[in-house]
Amino acid sequence: MSDVIFPLEVTVLDRLLQLNEIDLCTVSIRELGILVNELEAHFGVEYVRMEFGIPGLPAERIGPEEEIRVLKDQQKLPSTYPQFDGVPRLKKAAALFVNQFLNIDVFPENCVPTVGSMHGCLISMAIAGRRTKKADTILFLDPGFPVNKLQTKFLDLKTESIDIYDFRGNKLLRKIEDNFSTGRIGGILWSNPNNPTWVCLKEKELEGIGKLATKYDVICIEDVAYFGMDFRSNYSVPGKPPYQPTVARYTDNYFIVISSSKVFSYAGQRIGFTVISPELSKNRYPYLKKYANTDILGHAFIHGGIYPTTAGVPQTTQHGLAAILESVCAGTYNFLEKMHFYKDKSKKAKEIFLSNGFDLVYTDDSGNEIADGFYFTISWKKLTGEQLLHNMLLFGLAGIPLSITGSSREGIRICVSLFNEDQLCELNERVSDLANYLISIE
Ligand SMILES: Cc1ncc(COP(=O)(O)O)c(C=O)c1O
Repeated sequence: MSDVIFPLEVTVLDRLLQLNEIDLCTVSIRELGILVNELEAHFGVEYVRMEFGIPGLPAERIGPEEEIRVLKDQQKLPSTYPQFDGVPRLKKAAALFVNQFLNIDVFPENCVPTVGSMHGCLISMAIAGRRTKKADTILFLDPGFPVNKLQTKFLDLKTESIDIYDFRGNKLLRKIEDNFSTGRIGGILWSNPNNPTWVCLKEKELEGIGKLATKYDVICIEDVAYFGMDFRSNYSVPGKPPYQPTVARYTDNYFIVISSSKVFSYAGQRIGFTVISPELSKNRYPYLKKYANTDILGHAFIHGGIYPTTAGVPQTTQHGLAAILESVCAGTYNFLEKMHFYKDKSKKAKEIFLSNGFDLVYTDDSGNEIADGFYFTISWKKLTGEQLLHNMLLFGLAGIPLSITGSSREGIRICVSLFNEDQLCELNERVSDLANYLISIE
């Protein structure tokens, strides 16, 4: 690595950008990944890869071993179609998980496996935005997961956005009410902890959002892809407080979207589940019939959402996740303990950027410092996210621009999952060289 001279040749980077028709302002995470692969191959340099939110930890063996066992024991499994609404064992384990870690009561029938949680987001938004003719808009608490924006585009739903940089607490609730009172909002989506800022919505804010959702009949889509990963509280003990904050305590209008990708390092198996509020599930919306063969919301989710998209989730994978959830609920596997690995790396990486003159973009979490987790956001003086990314790429560093997350701010999302602890020294050197370079060209 030491014989590589930074900055890398800008003409090569610009040629590759042009050849791949990549605009760094709108680039998708996968496109960026391909570009970085090409840069690595061309320059023979290993990048510090901070662009893609892949789990950096191996999957706990419980899942794969159960998948193999089930496949061996149940000869007919591969040749039978799964039930659309999920394998009963997983539905039961999911309801128990929700009870033990969110402290809310739902029935197994309210827990529906999906092909990754982003499949759950897709169907949840489709349902939320198609219950009435007028309420065809999804309100995002931004910045957010870029794929959700692609999903609303794909579904031809309208979107509105509130940037949590400017709005927290009562100010956030007032802004949400302004939007809800138009009657055009069908659903409101956020992730908690937030990808990419790691801001964590407070119980009071969730209470306010829940009450407003009930008042204006808006569906809350609460994406907890990073379940329990606000490490300032210990959410890891089954059946004991504190519990992961949730809007479900304050409204019956919710979908909770749960992922196995990060907390169980199960991203490759593409499985998550959505919890549909028991009360909401029974509600009827005649306009839904335009998109599904039923006006009952819960049926529309399964028979109008799961069936035409994937017709269910692979069964072995469902058993793998069920086995993980069962051991988590029994207290034999502490799933959050290992996740501290991300927090520790985030602390160190953040320190490297800050000590070299970079700033955090989202720095405040309702009067507290932002916590350490999977992501953080950085900026350099007056540079746009696109300009900063261009320069980072010349120094063997990759992240994603905040412009694709719906942020109103300029900067870069840094994901700490993929790089190794032994790359921290290299990261420090490159960030320091980049900072000196940026100062020199000012
Ligand atoms: C906020 C958020 N939601 C959903 C997902 C997707 O999760 P899954 O792999 O379960 O589809 C991610 C993945 O990065 C995410 O950050």
